[in-house]
Amino acid sequence: MPRLKYASVLRILVILGLFCLWVQIMLSASNGGLERDNEELMNSNDTSEQVLALVPPELHKYLTVHPKNASGNATERTGPKNITDIRKAIEKYNSAQIIHNEDIYGPVQNDTIIIVIQVHTRLTYLRHLIVSLAQAKDIDRTLLVFSHDYYDEEINSLVRSIDFTKVMQIFYPYSIQTHPNEFPGVDPNDCPRDAKLEQAIKLKCNNALHPDLHGHYREAKYTQTKHHWWWKANRVFNQLHCTAAHTGMVVFLEEDHYVAEDFIHMLHLLRATADKSCPHCEILCLGTYLKTYQYHLTGDKRKKQLNLSYIQQVRAANEERRRRQMETQAWNYQVYPNLYSNTQKVEITPWHSSMHNMGMVFNRTVWRGIAELHEQFCAYDDYNWDYSLLHLSQNRPRRDKFRVILCKGPRVFHIGECGIHHKKSNCNASTVISKVQKLLQNAKPYLFPSRVAATVSAGGAKHNKRLTKGNGGWGDVRDQELCANMTKIGREARSYSYYT
Ligand SMILES: *[C@@H]1O[C@H](CO)[C@@H](O)[C@H](O)[C@H]1NC(C)=O
Ligand SMILES: *[C@@H]1O[C@H](CO)[C@@H](O)[C@H](O)[C@H]1NC(C)=O
Ligand SMILES: *[C@@H]1O[C@H](CO)[C@@H](O)[C@H](O)[C@H]1NC(C)=O
Ligand SMILES: *[C@@H]1O[C@H](CO)[C@@H](O)[C@H](O)[C@H]1NC(C)=O
Ligand SMILES: *[C@@H]1O[C@H](CO)[C@@H](O)[C@H](O)[C@H]1NC(C)=O
Ligand SMILES: *[C@@H]1O[C@H](CO)[C@@H](O)[C@H](O)[C@H]1NC(C)=O
Ligand SMILES: *[C@@H]1O[C@H](CO)[C@@H](O)[C@H](O)[C@H]1NC(C)=O
Ligand SMILES: *[C@@H]1O[C@H](CO)[C@@H](O)[C@H](O)[C@H]1NC(C)=O
Ligand SMILES: *[C@@H]1O[C@H](CO)[C@@H](O)[C@H](O)[C@H]1NC(C)=O
Repeated sequence: MPRLKYASVLRILVILGLFCLWVQIMLSASNGGLERDNEELMNSNDTSEQVLALVPPELHKYLTVHPKNASGNATERTGPKNITDIRKAIEKYNSAQIIHNEDIYGPVQNDTIIIVIQVHTRLTYLRHLIVSLAQAKDIDRTLLVFSHDYYDEEINSLVRSIDFTKVMQIFYPYSIQTHPNEFPGVDPNDCPRDAKLEQAIKLKCNNALHPDLHGHYREAKYTQTKHHWWWKANRVFNQLHCTAAHTGMVVFLEEDHYVAEDFIHMLHLLRATADKSCPHCEILCLGTYLKTYQYHLTGDKRKKQLNLSYIQQVRAANEERRRRQMETQAWNYQVYPNLYSNTQKVEITPWHSSMHNMGMVFNRTVWRGIAELHEQFCAYDDYNWDYSLLHLSQNRPRRDKFRVILCKGPRVFHIGECGIHHKKSNCNASTVISKVQKLLQNAKPYLFPSRVAATVSAGGAKHNKRLTKGNGGWGDVRDQELCANMTKIGREARSYSYYT
């Protein structure tokens, strides 16, 4: 009898095991396409005629992909540099701090709007962002700062070809590209992501004692974005010579954003409204997502990899399906007829990471408040910069959460939502860009409003919820230390910037 029981228990165990394996396989099969690394430069020539038709001819140059020189071999050109060369180039650019076109558009003033753009490798989107910036009114009075974590001559030459305003490039110096076999890249002796603690200790791998809150070890590519975001903010506010006396607004954009032509006008309007109706609004925001579902691409990606229970997996799959369905109508202007109208609304509400992370704007005073609490940002076990900032916002001693004032009719759009892996025709760059173009065309009569109506909202329960724990991915003390170190660097003496 006991033997029989044993056998049936064994049978159940085997069946369970097989089931788990099956779930694993199904999951990995459906994720296969998503998880592949996308380090190569994304620079395709698939701008459709439809999109091109709505771009002024003089701006087509920013969309022209020059074919890789097929005749001459790559080595003949100044060609792909090796790591040593790239590091040298980065050091040189960072210390020279050249501002292109300063001779034409005049020096940076204390109130010049500085637009900082975080750039990785998605060149196709960057081209369209540049085209949109070029069409914005008063863009010639701004400074564009492109912050790169991937050094590439094609990206560089595109950025340097910008002639409609002042341009500066800064290069994140701790990138995976320049540290391929060492921290902050992947050190061969780093613990495998899924190693168990005991196993890791036995392996004596570098970070054995510091898994994240889910028990996983660091993945360089997931930590880089937060590092880069933090580094560039520190760089712009604390280190660049041209910002030493700057007190104006700093706008944070990413390579796959797209701006409306009146975004600078709206910025001034938001600022004026804030000064009048909401002096404690520390953050301005130019874009909300058109749908309220979470767009968090990287967040979703990582969540998928977590060790979920079967029920959670089913739930995640349903959520994903729902998201996909909504995505097909996400850009439908008709659904939002009153966003752009005669009386345009701005909303004053508690700042929330996933809702208000696009086209964020704040000034040095606010930055100081953030930098003072760098531990809340750097030591929080979450690899998302926006969630880390939310954590900081919720843990300010003697101060309220950040409040944001935002345009209900977005002036910044996310065009890179489904560009990388989805080859489906309803989800390529041209399709999304075309929709944004049309949306803005329809909204044109309502752009440049002379005033706005402000509403105050307490935000939904979800948005006021206190973060209890982070999303993980930031358990490694080296990441926390590197992040903290970035705040310690100040302005160097001007003479350093001279480089031979
Ligand atoms: C890119 O597309 C345009 C228009 O479709 C075409 O004229 C051009 O030759 C293409 N360039 C390359 C490198 O394929
Ligand atoms: C480029 O170099 C490769 C090998 O180095 C050679 O086989 C090829 O013919 C070259 N192509 C041209 C166009 O010179
Ligand atoms: C291609 O390379 C050859 C030889 O290096 C050079 O003469 C030519 O100008 C290049 N063409 C382009 C389009 O860069
Ligand atoms: C990188 O290239 C330069 C020349 O461009 C060469 O002097 C140097 O030795 C190379 N370094 C490595 C590590 O290959
Ligand atoms: C900005 O600079 C101008 C003169 O260059 C000065 O008058 C003004 O007070 C400064 N504003 C701030 C906020 O520092
Ligand atoms: C910076 O932003 C804060 C908060 O929005 C605002 O109170 C302050 O006036 C701004 N500083 C300047 C110099 O504009
Ligand atoms: C999840 O983790 C637990 C313990 O860490 C492990 O026993 C289980 O096999 C894991 N499940 C999957 C599907 O990886
Ligand atoms: C993108 O979608 C458009 C139609 O919306 C189609 O004409 C084009 O071929 C697609 N491009 C790619 C690369 O799939
Ligand atoms: C941080 O700075 C300290 C002191 O300069 C240095 O010893 C340490 O290696 C740095 N840590 C990282 C991760 O860069």
